Amino acid sequence: MKFFVDTADTNDIKELAATGLLDGVTTNPSLIMKSGRPMKEVIAEICELVDGPVSAEVVATDAEGMLKEAEELIAIADNICIKLPLTLEGLKACRVLANKGVQTNVTLCFSANQALLAAKAGATFISPFIGRLDDINVEGLDLIAEIRQIYDNYGFGTEILAASIRTANHVKDCALIGADVATIPPATLKGLVKHPLTDKGLEAFMKDWAATGQSIV
Ligand code: E4P
Repeated sequence: MKFFVDTADTNDIKELAATGLLDGVTTNPSLIMKSGRPMKEVIAEICELVDGPVSAEVVATDAEGMLKEAEELIAIADNICIKLPLTLEGLKACRVLANKGVQTNVTLCFSANQALLAAKAGATFISPFIGRLDDINVEGLDLIAEIRQIYDNYGFGTEILAASIRTANHVKDCALIGADVATIPPATLKGLVKHPLTDKGLEAFMKDWAATGQSIV
């Protein structure tokens, strides 16, 4: 399973990239707003920090406008992935970009039929939003499972990028279902390593080791 981080905060991205565990980055207009920085500047910096796909989202609502914006964004770096909304216009733009070999991430997916359309439009990634479905009392993980089955039934190459992840259990459950990628907020991603028994065990080992008076180097 690939791990993307869902943020436009370059300090968090730097820290996570240094672990070697990061496969890509996703951003959206809200995350750009939160960064307080000009979009093109922050996206360019992120593209230098990670080798994998960096999703940059268009904001036009018609395919022609989306494609114009995509041209600008693609010029930033080779690892740009164009993020498009799950609308008919977004799917039209997706097909054009896919035919040109540009990576695409179709976002704001809330149903299996939407995911089916994105795969038919040649999307590189489909982003089903788990947390926002949970927020309205719909089981977000069921959507991931449905998409997995549909894509496997037909051999679609579109990767399932589980998005709107809120908890460590979301990550584990998406991995069990077989999502290809999870895009995770920085704090949740860093939190995956935590276990109280690891901390307790390490503390005991350190204490016993100190009692031996030895050193390895
Ligand atoms: C995905 O690409 C989105 O940026 C993100 O996962 C949305 O998450 P949220 O529902 O927590 O805003």
